[in-house]
Amino acid sequence: MKIVSTIAPGKCILFGEHSVVYGYPAIAMAISLYSRCVIENIKEKKIQLVFKNYDKIFEFPDLKTFVLSVPSQFKQVSGCLKIFNEEHGVNFENIKLTLSSSLFPSSGLGSSASIAVALVSAISEFYEKNYDKYEISKIAFQMEKIIHGTPSGIDNTVCTHGNLIFYKKGEFSSLSFPNYLQILVSYTNIAHDTKRAIEAVRAFKNEKPDLSEKIFKEMGKIAETAEKQLLNGNLREIGNLMNENQKYLVELGVSNDTISEIVKIALRNGAYGSKLTGAGLGGCVISLGTKKELKKISRVLKERGFESFLINVDREGVKIESSK
Ligand code: PMV
Repeated sequence: MKIVSTIAPGKCILFGEHSVVYGYPAIAMAISLYSRCVIENIKEKKIQLVFKNYDKIFEFPDLKTFVLSVPSQFKQVSGCLKIFNEEHGVNFENIKLTLSSSLFPSSGLGSSASIAVALVSAISEFYEKNYDKYEISKIAFQMEKIIHGTPSGIDNTVCTHGNLIFYKKGEFSSLSFPNYLQILVSYTNIAHDTKRAIEAVRAFKNEKPDLSEKIFKEMGKIAETAEKQLLNGNLREIGNLMNENQKYLVELGVSNDTISEIVKIALRNGAYGSKLTGAGLGGCVISLGTKKELKKISRVLKERGFESFLINVDREGVKIESSK
């Protein structure tokens, strides 16, 4: 009996969410919170899917039934198996897939991309395809399209390769960054819907093409400047750029009162910069500062009912934990 286990990090976007969808550069960071996929043989001729976070177990006699009857929430998984079956010649029989994640869903921390990447990597290892990270990210991107419509590709790229990346139109480079980079992630208590937020920005773009183009361009410039400031390790300047980026996200209409409240509390309590991360309209806010200040911000936010945690950069990206 064969068993393979993989993990892939989540992510947060430091600069350029939304404008990245229209080809402008963005910066994302892989974070030290992970999704895990375990794939193993079972005796019975069926496909079993276990989603630990949802306490759900599904069983299907074959892939066709799986694709037709899995609840829409889990379509990404059936879509992945379908891609491997149709495009990579994999036959799924007598297997059990167990998925779990320490990233809470719909929070802007890349839970769907992280699960997708872990799953693709596990299948590639289990069926001895031995795909490299570029191929893994490519297939995970196909999965992301199933649920997000027109994603930029930044999420699957950073969850696959790890580190901090500068991303533009499908191309990316890994960035060096100071070890003392500390980010506080705070949850708004509002689940966000990436597809809806992307559609809202598209509607804004159609209604105000000149203004939206100007905003995207400015956000792109911010990401380019931030790349240089990250190399210099200038945290105050990076914080200022985050604040500027947040102003544009407000203009695009993807911020809301709760996000603004958290940003205000963070800045009032000593953060260098604070902004929403990911699609917006809920999800998480990220704040940059010294560890001492960020801990204080976390305490103040907790009193107001918002959970926060300090995150580290994941440097490895997706990896095989065990294969035997
Ligand atoms: O919801 P998230 O964190 O996956 O955010 C997606 C980021 C967007 O720029 C809004 C979309 C994209 O595909 O880049």
